[in-house]
Amino acid sequence: MKRRKIVCVVVGTRPEAIKMAPIALALKHDETFQLHLLATGQHAEMLLNPLAFFDLVPDDYLGIMKERQSLDHVTATVITGVGDVLDRLRPSLVLVHGDTTSTLSATLAAFYRKIPVGHVEAGLRSRDLQSPFPEEMNRLLTDRLATYWFAPTPLARENLLREDCDAERIWVTGNTVIDALRVAVSRVDEPSLAELRRIPATCRLVLVTAHRRESWGKGLREICTAIRHLTEKIPELWFLVPMHRNPEVRSVFMEELGAFDRVALCEPLEYPDFVWAMKRSTLILSDSGGIQEEAPFLKKPVLVLREVTERPEAVLEGTALLVGTESSRIVRESVRLLTNPQEYAKLVEKRRNPFGDGNASERILEALKKSLTTISRHSEPRRNR
Ligand code: UD1
Ligand code: UDP
Repeated sequence: MKRRKIVCVVVGTRPEAIKMAPIALALKHDETFQLHLLATGQHAEMLLNPLAFFDLVPDDYLGIMKERQSLDHVTATVITGVGDVLDRLRPSLVLVHGDTTSTLSATLAAFYRKIPVGHVEAGLRSRDLQSPFPEEMNRLLTDRLATYWFAPTPLARENLLREDCDAERIWVTGNTVIDALRVAVSRVDEPSLAELRRIPATCRLVLVTAHRRESWGKGLREICTAIRHLTEKIPELWFLVPMHRNPEVRSVFMEELGAFDRVALCEPLEYPDFVWAMKRSTLILSDSGGIQEEAPFLKKPVLVLREVTERPEAVLEGTALLVGTESSRIVRESVRLLTNPQEYAKLVEKRRNPFGDGNASERILEALKKSLTTISRHSEPRRNR
């Protein structure tokens, strides 16, 4: 019997867990490959909970998270921790996702050992190194070091080609976030959390998340001001704010919104409860990358709380609006959508979801099989020029 090729799938944070789960499951059930799921633990419970939802248990867990951790800490511990696992495992390929510090550090550890890297969700660009920070640099460097690129959209492919990535090793696959979301939607009926069951059936719900570094401090306070003004302007509105576990984020939300009627602050929601909340909401305000991709699939308008986005597809399609973090603008755009049914309908009716059909992980698996013959431990990243 032919030996299976070991593919080491690295995940570090919540979005990586959700978006890599469909690929990990596809690899696990395939006869060509042997899955090795390596969790860096850049996030702790926010990483393990979504993996558990998909019945995935890491083969290795580095557990590196510290309260208020620095980028240096995450970078250094992930490089050495992943490096040790790779020395022991000697996989044929390392698969990383997106733009986190775990992503870049795992890529470097593989590169130092001349192990090829496949980058899932490759080619996203905001073209601003300060926003999102440090993610824009993380994905630029990861793409520079990768051997295989799985671009979620044609636009991402164009970005990679512009940077001289070899066209033969780029695949446009759709985003695996939609694969995961389809599974969650099919399994979500009622929310498990009592707080969610207490949301009045008659209210209009606005779901809010924010966690980006460039919004820490002033940006987050402006978002909170906007929420307070909106509760005053529109009496039937309720806000649900699942707070990221980062203390920099939680402290601001709790201070600014802790004692307000019709504003429900809660812990990060389990992935299926969060999907329930997205479906239940009338409007989403978020700076999250993943939520920008999920909302159009669920036909929910999103006001993106950022100045630039590396996911312009939803904005171009017309289902998302880039509004930044200034409170007056957030209030103005929210009121326009919430009080004018025609304006609201424009954002959701007949709009296409540009991020995929839910079969991205199958396409990635097929691409990996086709490339199998060319995957060698010593194949270094090549360029067109
Ligand atoms: C990280 C990623 C960001 C991604 C986000 C997803 C980097 C630089 N940033 O940002 O790209 O969008 O994850 O959510 O890679 N914490 C916990 N428990 C958890 C997770 C976090 O307590 O399960 C707290 C810890 O105090 C930790 C802090 O949050 O030190 C920050 O976590 P970190 O991963 O460094 O940054 P994020 O802001 O989560
Ligand atoms: N999510 C979740 N619970 C929450 C908030 C978000 O399960 O309370 C999910 C959401 O559905 C999406 C992902 O987490 O799939 C987005 O993660 P996050 O916003 O932390 O990171 P980003 O996508 O901005 O990197």
